[in-house]
Amino acid sequence: MNATINLEKKHFPVLLNELISIISPLYGGTFIDCTFGQGGYSEKILESKNNNIIALDRDKDVLNKTLKLQNKYKERFKFYNLKFSQLDQIKLKNHKLKGIIFDLGYSLNQIKNSQKGLSFSDKGKLNMRMGLNDFSANEIISSMGENNLAKVFKVFGDEKYSKKIAREIIKKRKEKIIKTEDLVQIIDNVKKYQKTKIHNSTKVFQALRILVNKEISELINGLINSFNLIPTGGIIVVVSFHSIEDKIVKFFFKHYSEQKNSSRYLPETEVSERCFKLINKKPILPSLSEIRQNPPSRSAKLRYGIKINDKCDFSEFREKFNNLINVEDLR
Ligand SMILES: C[S@@+](CC[C@H](N)C(=O)[O-])C[C@H]1O[C@@H](n2cnc3c(N)ncnc32)[C@H](O)[C@@H]1O
Repeated sequence: MNATINLEKKHFPVLLNELISIISPLYGGTFIDCTFGQGGYSEKILESKNNNIIALDRDKDVLNKTLKLQNKYKERFKFYNLKFSQLDQIKLKNHKLKGIIFDLGYSLNQIKNSQKGLSFSDKGKLNMRMGLNDFSANEIISSMGENNLAKVFKVFGDEKYSKKIAREIIKKRKEKIIKTEDLVQIIDNVKKYQKTKIHNSTKVFQALRILVNKEISELINGLINSFNLIPTGGIIVVVSFHSIEDKIVKFFFKHYSEQKNSSRYLPETEVSERCFKLINKKPILPSLSEIRQNPPSRSAKLRYGIKINDKCDFSEFREKFNNLINVEDLR
């Protein structure tokens, strides 16, 4: 679920005031906006004359907006059509990097673009590619085996009816190519139009979107690369929207900010394994007035950390979420 979508279909950058108050003490340098989207964060940061933005987005459709910022802010704004897992390709040259920001998920423009097929209200060929993908949801639904489909729905969507839905998909695809509306119908039939708070198709669509966009490995590699790119004293900020994302972000900051050897009798070198300093242990959540103005923002969680160690061994981080990465690699 993405929180830049609201009922009036107007774009509101989520937790913008909170983000600005967290990063503004570091103003006067360069920030990397890893998820440019509609440019809400980038634009606000550029309002301060001493700031520069390097922006990334995997979706080429943001180019209209990036051109506007390029014209207005000239060399203070630079855009790369890259995935944030590719952060290591960014050349910083003379930039004084102060912060790296992630606002995960998809934007209002993307969900409104029916060709992308991110919404279960869309009709036509299944897609769900945000940009720079290797395959689409159509390829998954047309060719993945029953057990693997069920696993994807269960692990990435926590879908209770994962096995039944997978079985019905296999049956249906023998008759015809399954389009977005057919998948919604299959799920409705399995769930027998049960009345729940969320749409019947929400979980399966979330699972497919995670798989098609490889959102788990993107996030893990993006976070590790951001640590390697930012100098000590710099900040990494992440806004997440679903529980799998938040679990990953929480572990990244919490695990690597804890003192591994808490004995004060040990020499300094033994206790210098902390990679982050955390100012807020708990996530920052949207205020009631933000949720009222933009209801989907209710699921947003902002976490951040200040880098305090030059090197960090992230092998435990990768291992911890290896089971999820393995599901992302299923075909
Ligand atoms: C929630 S929107 C960002 C909204 C933005 N903060 C704003 O204020 O307009 C998320 C954006 O991140 C992009 N995105 C998602 N995953 C990405 C990835 N792995 N690498 C680069 N961009 C990504 C999407 O294409 C989308 O445009």
